[in-house]
Formats: sequence, C-alpha cells, structure tokens
Amino acid sequence: MDMDKVVELKNLEAEMLKDKNLPLQTNLVFGEGNPNCEVLFIGEAPGFNEDKEKRPFVGRAGQLLRKCIRDLGWKEIDVYITNIVKRRPPENRDPTEEEIEKYKPYLKRQIEIIDPKIIVPLGRFSMNYFLPLAKITRDQGKLFNLGEYFILPMLHPAAALRGTGAMNMFEETFKELPVTLQKITTGGFEETKPIETTTKKQKFEDVQGKLF
Ligand code: URA
Repeated sequence: MDMDKVVELKNLEAEMLKDKNLPLQTNLVFGEGNPNCEVLFIGEAPGFNEDKEKRPFVGRAGQLLRKCIRDLGWKEIDVYITNIVKRRPPENRDPTEEEIEKYKPYLKRQIEIIDPKIIVPLGRFSMNYFLPLAKITRDQGKLFNLGEYFILPMLHPAAALRGTGAMNMFEETFKELPVTLQKITTGGFEETKPIETTTKKQKFEDVQGKLF
C-alpha cells in the first residue's frame, strides 16, 4: 500500500470536512477502497444508507455493484468507490449543477491522488461530468480516452435494478471490465469495434477525445 496516497486522501478528507462552502449538511461520504487501485468507480451522490454508514454504495444498488465486483473474482477492497457529490441531497433528489461544481475540485484532486488506470462513471450524472455530450444508454460500455484517463461509463446499478434489459446491459458491460483493463495495459485496442459511424464517431471524438 502506498502510504503517501493514504495520507494525501486523509488530508483531502479533513480539508473537505472543514470547508464551510460545500453545500449539503449531511455526513461526508468521502469514498473507500484501495488508493493504488486500477479501477475507480464514481457514482452520483450518497443516499440514505450511505449517509448513515458514511460509506459509498452500501444500499441495494451498492450491494449489486459490490456483488458484480466480487463475481469478477476481485475483492471490493481492491478497487476504489466514491461519488461526485459527497453528501446526501435531501429526499435523494438528483444533485444540482451548483452542488456538482462545488464538489468538483475535491473529486479532481481525489482522482489525481488515486491515478487509476480506468474510471467507471456509474450513471448519467457521473458520466456527463467526464463526457458532457455522451448519452448513457447509447454510450455505456464504450471506452473513451480522455488523454489522462480511460473512461468506461456504465449504467447506474439502481437503474439496472429497475428492469431486466438494464440489468443485462449492466452485467454484460461489467463482465468486460477485466478484458478492457487488460487492453489498456497492453495497448491492444485493435479488436474493439467502432460503435459510431465514421463521421458521427469523428465528430464525437473531436469534442470528447478518442473513442475505441
Ligand atoms: N447511489 C450513488 O450514486 N452513490 C451511492 O453511494 C449510493 C447510491
């Protein structure tokens, strides 16, 4: 374990706890896992259970996420799990743009410290934080290269729990994660099929970075 990263994350959390400009009054749910992970999962904001336990993704959606991680043969503590907005919005409403903006500098630093190989945004809000033009049902499961990071958006596990189609999509993308990770490590993207038509793909890439 890289203790520097552990200390840096602890310091960042302490800084957030002192920051009176951060919106929302609930408990800070900073995130958890291995700071030396290759895969960083980023959700939207904590819900009721997460606020109570001060841990990300511990409710029903979280249990699905954690089961999918274990089903890959990975340990939950080998990855890192956090959210964009790190306090629970009232009534579990969607986070506002202002809330996302205020929490953004901290998320940015958290990502820089962890420096994962791949970031997996869970759901629309998190995906649009990295890829403002992307559409979740169209672009989940596609791998984006933003220069500094590879991004693999997935459906939010709460959306997967709402229907069989979404669940199948979520599970299929999840199962590809080790192969995608392997390809990133070895640089072998040749076999990944382009999803957009050439012109649409080019237009998209001009704005969003390379799409594999
Ligand atoms: N949904 C999220 O986006 N994050 C959590 O931590 C829990 C549910």
